Amino acid sequence: MLVTNKDLMVPARKKGYAIGAFNVQNLESTLAIAEAATEEKSPAIMQITPSVIKYAGLAYISNLVKTAAEIAPVPIAMHLDHGGDFETAVKCIDAGFTSVMIDGSFLSFDENVALTKRVADVAQPRGVSVEAELGKLAGVEERTVAEKDAILTDPKAAVDFVEKTGVDTLAVAIGTSHGAYKFKTQAKLDIERLKTISQKIGIPLVLHGASSVPQEIVEKANKYGAELSGAKGIPETEIKKAISFGIAKINIDTDLRLAFTATVREAFTNAPKNFDPRKVLGPAKNAMKEVAKGKMQLFGSTGKA
Ligand code: G3H
Ligand code: 13P
Ligand code: ZN
Repeated sequence: MLVTNKDLMVPARKKGYAIGAFNVQNLESTLAIAEAATEEKSPAIMQITPSVIKYAGLAYISNLVKTAAEIAPVPIAMHLDHGGDFETAVKCIDAGFTSVMIDGSFLSFDENVALTKRVADVAQPRGVSVEAELGKLAGVEERTVAEKDAILTDPKAAVDFVEKTGVDTLAVAIGTSHGAYKFKTQAKLDIERLKTISQKIGIPLVLHGASSVPQEIVEKANKYGAELSGAKGIPETEIKKAISFGIAKINIDTDLRLAFTATVREAFTNAPKNFDPRKVLGPAKNAMKEVAKGKMQLFGSTGKA
């Protein structure tokens, strides 16, 4: 069943758990999340970035997710992740997305408000929920942001932003970053800042850049020829704390990519005579499924469908 992010996240915030928002790019990642959610009896968000739309085509990727939502016996939301402009958001709404993120984090406060409000005014009357971002995460995404340019979310500005835009959910910057290299030294989030924000704002909050970069997966990838040394993510203890202070959606892309890569490398190395794609992509899909199931257990969404 296709539902909105708001449908999933309002009860999650109220009851103190979070929904995994998993980036999907093709059949295998979509199947992995659908199977994980089904086995865990968990709701899930399948999210699609503009670069995936460029890669797969909007019709292919949106229909894959719609099919998953029709078949899976659990609620699934189809969300635009890091929508960069008004036109992309509208195209996705027209294609049946139930939720859109408009990412104005690279704009000034006033420009971010104006762009977010413009999207909300089109999306919400059509029953589509809207996520915006205030502050700026470091890391690798379409617009890569250097660590020195990252900006943590200001709690007062966040209250003002939510009042002016009427967004359904808000992504905050509290020290996470996109990609596999999140920390050079100690991995720590600004939980005090999150606590202040969540005391002032009642809508569900979103944590981007939340992959944990499991070391056993990085080691497996490296064993089979990857060069990923120094990769480091968010400890699971920090994720738990974040959920207890209002985070109700947790974005995971990197950990799925790592599981895929490690398993594809392993499968090719261990069966050099194989040239059937299914014998490589099948195990890779299962590895992504195991990652997603672990996240659902960690986030507390298991059994909530
Ligand atoms: O922030 C989202 C992703 O991790 C970057 O995804 O490479 O599909 O744009 P992308
Ligand atoms: P990771 O790179 O930590 O998986 O974050 C993904 C994300 O925030 C997608 O929007
Ligand atoms: Zn993100």
